[in-house]
Amino acid sequence: MALQPRAGHARSIKVAIVGAGSVGTTTAYALLMSDLAAEIVLIDIDVARAEGEVRDLNHAAHFAQARVRVGGYADCVGAAAVIITAGVNQKPGQTRIDLLKTNHALFESIVPPIARYAPDTVLVIATNPVDVLTHSAARLSGFPVEKVIGTGTFLDSNRFRAELGSYYHIHPKNIHALIIGEHGDSQLPVWSLATISGMRLTDYCAQAGVKYDQGAMDACARRTKEAAYEIIQRKGKTNYGVASVLVKIVEAIVTDGDAIMTVSRVGEYEGVDDIALSMPCKVNREGAHQEVPLLLNESEKAALRKSALTIKEAIAGLR
Ligand code: LAC
Repeated sequence: MALQPRAGHARSIKVAIVGAGSVGTTTAYALLMSDLAAEIVLIDIDVARAEGEVRDLNHAAHFAQARVRVGGYADCVGAAAVIITAGVNQKPGQTRIDLLKTNHALFESIVPPIARYAPDTVLVIATNPVDVLTHSAARLSGFPVEKVIGTGTFLDSNRFRAELGSYYHIHPKNIHALIIGEHGDSQLPVWSLATISGMRLTDYCAQAGVKYDQGAMDACARRTKEAAYEIIQRKGKTNYGVASVLVKIVEAIVTDGDAIMTVSRVGEYEGVDDIALSMPCKVNREGAHQEVPLLLNESEKAALRKSALTIKEAIAGLR
């Protein structure tokens, strides 16, 4: 059950979604049915496509409070959040970084007008490579960095919790486990802080009388990292997982929820400055705030620095 906006609040909330592809339209549907917003604006260069999607979505609106309409950048005015899903997505065998030049060029054309029409909004980025493009969107918009949020490893953390939940036969919401760093091949699990009912995994296993198997744990982390590749190999894209994450981020913004989630944000990480990657942030209507400390061990710090340098290199490649 989604947190409900403050009484009467939903009636005034507008959310814009740029990109009427599978991620954008899945997000529009999930947002519509969540009742978090009163107005959802779908923006796409292919207006006919957007119109078709909106007509279809409004046949679901019968059961919801919101209405969906086609719009342009000028319709971002007053939006509590503008979600950017536009861009090419991974094809089988492609990494997310492979998409960078094409999608960065697109961002150079779409971010400035959004920033002009909605200078007070929160930008929520899903387009890959999401960390580099979160950094690009912050630079291109001129927004304070907390107002530009990338989905980052929020999705990976959810996948990781699902993998661990399946292994331990426990619902993922009762497993606290984070993936941080790049939403990509250099991401890292924070084993030292992973817990089940407040106990570290090794202590949980000892208390539960089961053998702790690091090989099995590493397989959970590997399946998490490879999840998108495996899905894309089978259905050609991913959309539901990232759409669910986008709606949770919007929920934290429109309800001023102070929810902690591993989202991507520009900052300095392990001595690597001016990049975006995912660490736990507190998300509310003012954006993503970094004051959530994370106690990493030395090997996790080294892996996070490696991930940060991977992103730094990709950003440098844009110049
Ligand atoms: C995925 C895309 C959103 O991991 O990168 O499904």
